[in-house]
Amino acid sequence: MDGLKEAAEEAGRIMLDRRGLTVHAKGTRENLATSADFKVERFLRKRLTELIPGSSFIGEEDGRSGDGDCAWIVDPIDGTANYARDLRVSTVSIALRKNGETVAGIVHQPYTDEMFCAEKGKGAYVNGRKIHVSDRPLANSMFCTSWSAYKKERSPMCFGISERILPLCEDIRRFGTAAYELSLLAEGKIDIYFEAALQPWDLAAGALIVREAGGVCGSVHGPESYDGEGAMIASNSKESFDTIRDIIEEEMVKWERGDRLPR
Ligand code: IPD
Ligand code: CA
Repeated sequence: MDGLKEAAEEAGRIMLDRRGLTVHAKGTRENLATSADFKVERFLRKRLTELIPGSSFIGEEDGRSGDGDCAWIVDPIDGTANYARDLRVSTVSIALRKNGETVAGIVHQPYTDEMFCAEKGKGAYVNGRKIHVSDRPLANSMFCTSWSAYKKERSPMCFGISERILPLCEDIRRFGTAAYELSLLAEGKIDIYFEAALQPWDLAAGALIVREAGGVCGSVHGPESYDGEGAMIASNSKESFDTIRDIIEEEMVKWERGDRLPR
């Protein structure tokens, strides 16, 4: 774990250096990549595959290299839109999967010097302090979500979900980095979470950190039934998970039937 933490710290330092920064859109106008995303990913590809010889590497920007049973799943900058605007809320997210199971995860927020980490079966930590999800009931929960910025055809469904969950909880937040939001849930600072369309590198580390902190993570098919991408639900308790899961499933069905068409 020490070598992994050092790599995440060094990646954070590379992220903070904005000299010569360039920004471009990939695919859609709102989905950005910067020169720093590539720099951080290149550094981690080399450093992490040296840490475990023969390991493979899957990064958001440059894709896959290698075919080992141990795979690094890396988002060099989660929260690239924040980063491009210098909003100072972005993370490096690193997960290690062995034979398809996530066994270690790190989420580093260099602006606040927070290092969240978890190893399967060993609990979750921030800067060496053990963390646990909150025990807040749904009525006192803070809900973190997004409205599917990259796939706007799903936005009406996400707004429908927010419209139904807001009256049941305290308030809604959107930090713009899924990995950090999941880490905040693990630390007990936020309590429930939903995103309509995530990629493996956005969530692999955060999902392990949530589970190791005693939280529940899954899909509309229930906790644990998560295949590593798509819609994701996370919560501090099984009770809240089940309540929001039911709402999310109903709104997804309505959207699939075409009941909620983009306005
Ligand atoms: C995005 C962030 C954002 C989430 C998106 C992700 P990126 O990752 O995690 O919070 O809403 O779904 O794709 O593009 O900044 O690496
Ligand atoms: Ca990214």
